[in-house]
Amino acid sequence: MGDMLMLWVALGICCFTSAWSVNNFLMTGPKAYLTYTASVALGAQSGIEECKFQFAWERWNCPENALQLSTHNRLRSATRETSFIHAISSAGVMYTITKNCSMGDFENCGCDESKNGKTGGHGWIWKGCSDDVEFGERISKLFVDSLEKGKDARALMNLHNNRAGRLAVRATMKRTCKCHGISGSCSIQTCWLQLADFRETGDYLKAKYDQALKIEMDKRQLRTGNSAEGHWAPTKAFLPSAEAELIFLEESPDYCVQNSSLGIYGTEGRECLQNSHNTSRWEQHSCGHLCTKCGLQVKERRTEAMSSCNCKFHWCCTVKCDQCRHVVNKFYCAHSPDRAGARGKGSAP
Ligand SMILES: *[C@@H]1O[C@H](CO)[C@@H](O)[C@H](O)[C@H]1NC(C)=O
Ligand SMILES: *[C@@H]1O[C@H](CO)[C@@H](O)[C@H](O)[C@H]1NC(C)=O
Ligand SMILES: *[C@@H]1O[C@H](CO)[C@@H](O)[C@H](O)[C@H]1NC(C)=O
Repeated sequence: MGDMLMLWVALGICCFTSAWSVNNFLMTGPKAYLTYTASVALGAQSGIEECKFQFAWERWNCPENALQLSTHNRLRSATRETSFIHAISSAGVMYTITKNCSMGDFENCGCDESKNGKTGGHGWIWKGCSDDVEFGERISKLFVDSLEKGKDARALMNLHNNRAGRLAVRATMKRTCKCHGISGSCSIQTCWLQLADFRETGDYLKAKYDQALKIEMDKRQLRTGNSAEGHWAPTKAFLPSAEAELIFLEESPDYCVQNSSLGIYGTEGRECLQNSHNTSRWEQHSCGHLCTKCGLQVKERRTEAMSSCNCKFHWCCTVKCDQCRHVVNKFYCAHSPDRAGARGKGSAP
């Protein structure tokens, strides 16, 4: 057991120690599943990294403490953001385990070849290594769902969103094909089903986050312990028609202002992007969204940066570059000196 703990620490699973209790992971799963813990940890980590990417220019930017708050006993939040954390972590675990299976990393899983040889459609047949998501789904469910000890509405919400995350991995799978036939005529194709790039699963879940459904608690009888011993079917109990949707119970707090009792840092000091072309909608609106609409000013700061320049190709085969100093202007949210404390009302979280 000590070795596994060291492994977790080595993998940098710092942030899960209080929330996603390492001990719970190791004690509750059958011994056989110890084989998967390293990959599970990697998968959860990749989910969190994707969360940070997706929310880089939002007021709530997937801070480390949110990962703890989502399952911490006293401070369990049940917001739209909580729903995303659960979905993306669960998806990350399923994704990584499934990839591992296709790569032959584990003995008892591999590719899904059940359809191989069958005609898939006009001009193509199934062949090759289709990613077998079922195994990854099982492992993700086993590990991630087992962290949910309670039987209250929050626990149900988390289980629902864990599942929505796994469904997102399935929903973003793609058929990939290879051409065959005389001199590449492509008269016949062989196809297999492949996981998308994890970024696509992240984009998909971000869209689900934007249209997440709020469950009105008092309209539903979801009180603590109103069901027999652990036999909950969360999605059935919750919302049968919305199994792929993210759901939440509480409105998000105001992420503009720091509130240490809620673990919110506020947007003061955050960087935003200005005058940058060819950027996403989120990046283009970042200064307004993070600063101005939060009652903060956009402050410009000149910083010096070093980068490679005057690169020359030398025979053979190296590239030599100079290091050049150049000035970059960066923008940050800051309080205006005269109107400290005053702020407008933000619209979206
Ligand atoms: C699973 O895949 C990850 C990369 O996606 C790799 O780092 C890890 O070593 C693999 N696990 C095993 C047990 O091979
Ligand atoms: C922090 O949030 C709590 C709960 O919403 C609220 O009661 C409190 O006034 C907030 N504190 C500050 C400093 O905004
Ligand atoms: C914008 O960026 C993308 C990739 O980052 C690139 O493919 C595209 O050509 C760029 N468009 C312009 C107008 O610079």
